[in-house]
Amino acid sequence: MTTLHLPLDRSSGTPIHRQIYEGFRRAILDGLLRPGQRVPSTRALALDLDVSRLPVLTAYDQLLHEGYLEGRVGSGTYVSAAVPDDLLGLAVPASGAAPPGAARRRARQPPPVRDEGGLGPFRMSLPALDQFPHAAWARLVARHAHGLKHAEMAYGDPAGLVPLRLAIAQHLRAARAVRCEVDQVLIVSGSQAALRLAGAVLLGPGDRVAVEEPGSPLARAALGASGAEVVPVPVDEEGMSVDSLRRREARVRAAYVTPSHQYPLGMSMTAARRFALLDWAARREAWLLEDDYDSEYRYVSRPLGALQGMDAHDRVVYIGTFSKVLFPSVRVGYLVVPPSLRQRFLDAREVFDLFSPTLYQLALAEFLGEGHFARHLRRMRGVYLARRDALLAGLARHCGDRLTVLNADAGLHVAVLLSGGLDDGDVVRRMAARGLTATALSTCHAGAARRSGLLLGFGGSTERRLLEATRVLGEVLGD
Ligand SMILES: Cc1ncc(COP(=O)(O)O)c(C=O)c1O
Repeated sequence: MTTLHLPLDRSSGTPIHRQIYEGFRRAILDGLLRPGQRVPSTRALALDLDVSRLPVLTAYDQLLHEGYLEGRVGSGTYVSAAVPDDLLGLAVPASGAAPPGAARRRARQPPPVRDEGGLGPFRMSLPALDQFPHAAWARLVARHAHGLKHAEMAYGDPAGLVPLRLAIAQHLRAARAVRCEVDQVLIVSGSQAALRLAGAVLLGPGDRVAVEEPGSPLARAALGASGAEVVPVPVDEEGMSVDSLRRREARVRAAYVTPSHQYPLGMSMTAARRFALLDWAARREAWLLEDDYDSEYRYVSRPLGALQGMDAHDRVVYIGTFSKVLFPSVRVGYLVVPPSLRQRFLDAREVFDLFSPTLYQLALAEFLGEGHFARHLRRMRGVYLARRDALLAGLARHCGDRLTVLNADAGLHVAVLLSGGLDDGDVVRRMAARGLTATALSTCHAGAARRSGLLLGFGGSTERRLLEATRVLGEVLGD
């Protein structure tokens, strides 16, 4: 419901109903009120303006009559979906404050909605939203929303809610072999926020930060925002090349890695490479930023433990997120920081945005505590395995000789290389025209892309949709 800034001048001599009418008309023509937007009820507006209902009723009557507003039975009054053109023409201000036609365009066009690639097949980073236990989650959110205490409505702990941090620490120790106490766990709004925070604490202008090449463009951007220079270091089949890292190590204060499931290529870092990297960090007194963004899903063998758990020198900052295991819009992620860094992270976290919303933290703590989370994870492994298999079967059937699957042992996407000199950006555009939302491998290269490929998410689509999508992809590649 919209409240409108509508200053009334009781001494002007213009009747109040006329002022209300003019106020609405101008707001609609100037685009401050948009087509389809609900306006207050006459009763609410009268109260708001501290006038009787009569002038409001008179003004609304006229606005309805002239087509600026429309009433929908039982659901209130709205700005008309289509304000007549001749009326919009009157909106061009004589003062020249806006170019002719500007108000017409503003009033006609709703603000562009940023479509993050939609929910189409192959969309990256999307979990199975259709499989989420909505009922259990809704019950917990509703229970806490109803019972919200004053202390829970006030400012919260920058580190996050203790019961949630306890549940996360317990889960990470058991499932990921992370060595941590509750004090080391900090709640933030997703892993992207965790990277911004780590950058702010550990990096600054004049420093350099190593990132995997190819790697996550979002992670590069988050770390680069610290002012540090981002240095791409190639990955091979074992993970980030420590030899290459050593050759570029001057002023490198930190290295960002995805050891469980390299983003985007999909392999996991070998034990030998992990020890080499930990050894490098200890000698250089550098930090390792471990992004464990989708480690819960592994299809061929037990998930590897976290790099953090193998670290004897407290050089690893571990980052996790609920975006893949629950859903992205929950915006809850976490860091596990070495004790020596805890206070600096807390201070910086408070400067960023004080603390994370308490209601979701309360619901989430119970979601973990009551066992829903563990149950959901167990069930989802089967769901994702079936989806991955459907994707691989579809690719083999429809795209066989046109691409090569690189790695499909873990996570919610597979990376494929395109054959025949196809440009991956061009393929992605042609896929988009057919309703498929893939990501070009070349977007993950900071330097010149050496390989043309696609990242195909399978988490968010049913097996049937994936099979159909691979058929369409086969046609796109054959065109
Ligand atoms: C490498 C990587 N890390 C983390 C994330 C998740 O980010 P967030 O936790 O901020 O939703 C993504 C999602 O796109 C990702 O690709």
